[in-house]
Amino acid sequence: MSEPKTISLNELSEYRGQLVTIQGWVHGIRGSNARQFLSLRNSGRILQVLAEKELLAEETFSEIKHLKQETSLSVTGKLVENEKSPIGYELILESFRKIGESENYPITPKDHGIDFLLSQRHLWLRSSRQLAILRVRDELSFSIRNYFHERKFTLIDTPILTGSIGESAGTLFSTEYFDLGNAYLAQTGQLYLETAIFAHNRVYCFGPTFRAEKSKTRRHLTEFWMLEAESAFVSHEQNMELQEDFIKTVVKQTVQACLPELKVLERDPGPLLEYMERPFPKIDYKDALEFLRSEKEDIVWGDDINSEREQMLARKYGGPVFIQKYPREAKAFYMKVNPEDPRTVLNADLIAPDGVGEIIGGSEREENYSNIIKRLEEEKLPVESYEWYLELRKYGSVPHSGFGLGSERLIAWICGLSHIRECIPFPRMMERLYP
Ligand code: 4AD
Repeated sequence: MSEPKTISLNELSEYRGQLVTIQGWVHGIRGSNARQFLSLRNSGRILQVLAEKELLAEETFSEIKHLKQETSLSVTGKLVENEKSPIGYELILESFRKIGESENYPITPKDHGIDFLLSQRHLWLRSSRQLAILRVRDELSFSIRNYFHERKFTLIDTPILTGSIGESAGTLFSTEYFDLGNAYLAQTGQLYLETAIFAHNRVYCFGPTFRAEKSKTRRHLTEFWMLEAESAFVSHEQNMELQEDFIKTVVKQTVQACLPELKVLERDPGPLLEYMERPFPKIDYKDALEFLRSEKEDIVWGDDINSEREQMLARKYGGPVFIQKYPREAKAFYMKVNPEDPRTVLNADLIAPDGVGEIIGGSEREENYSNIIKRLEEEKLPVESYEWYLELRKYGSVPHSGFGLGSERLIAWICGLSHIRECIPFPRMMERLYP
């Protein structure tokens, strides 16, 4: 007789009723003297393996009973449908073989503190909630790339080592770069994306981004993944339209693909999906300021809107909301000055409700050569290191706009998490570089 086929938990439906082999890890084990229920993990999913004393040799059953958490094994048995199982099937064990022992696995089913878990991140990735979150991340990343690919944006991979400051001098990681002075880890790919619109019109990048944030908040990492898109001949208003369609599309696709994962995370996607059916309101900074003052907030023209105030605005408008046309001094040098009110720029932040806050920052870009030099000087940035960027304003400059989405913040929102540290496989924060 031929050997049973070795399969993964991603392809169960093709093998219903058959004898199969699955290789994986002991996620957990419980049971009685008559039967044991072994949770076997493979490909980020869990399958219940039923070991019945009656059907097995005594020695085999006893060995199963004494299996330790995270032992790796190969199990063979019949795959049967089971409506109660989240995965729809269970395996009736016939035989098994140990591959690797596991003694005293440190993450037990009891509660552990967050610092301990983060120090065990190399192992914590195996836990059910972490499996679910990183599968959501995988689906969202796929959906993001697909969104732009389908709309004929060209992927432009922007450099991580850069010679000019993309956002603000205060949050730069720098490193010595041979005889050329300092290189900075990219805070954004935007300036490079702007070069590429002249070649490809509509472009995007999706990669790691670095900010030496000295703040310990629920929504800041020092390394995060940002999706950035940039389009030639696109206005500030059209830029917001694109962002709204983008968020609605990728959130709906990710939720649809991850219903079992959201169940593990006890996240009801209903309210999130309702937000995706409504238009996102667009509020001017000056009106946001007026509202916040009417709520007795002590805020003056030029102040950034902090996370508590963002949530007050999200509550007032009942969901995601764009706050647009910020004071110039609060925003980056490349944003186009608003011709109708030069105290402000043509930018917008997209604020998410549920305690998440700003998920997107975007703007129309200043396309005029002398205006942008003026802005660099105002911000006391070294004009000479932007020479290449300024040349874009000399050779066929056009109106253009773009935006950046912090993917971990969107994952946190989809998963209903209060902190973004679990939304990336190995979070980098002010006080964490291990593992
Ligand atoms: O608003 P930011 O700083 O915008 C830019 O970097 C632009 N150059 C993007 C562009 O127009 N191409 O950042 C964009 C988004 C924020 O809205 C936030 O979601 C996320 O990036 N972000 C962070 N996420 C995690 N940790 C941090 N420290 C973050 N800083 C920004």
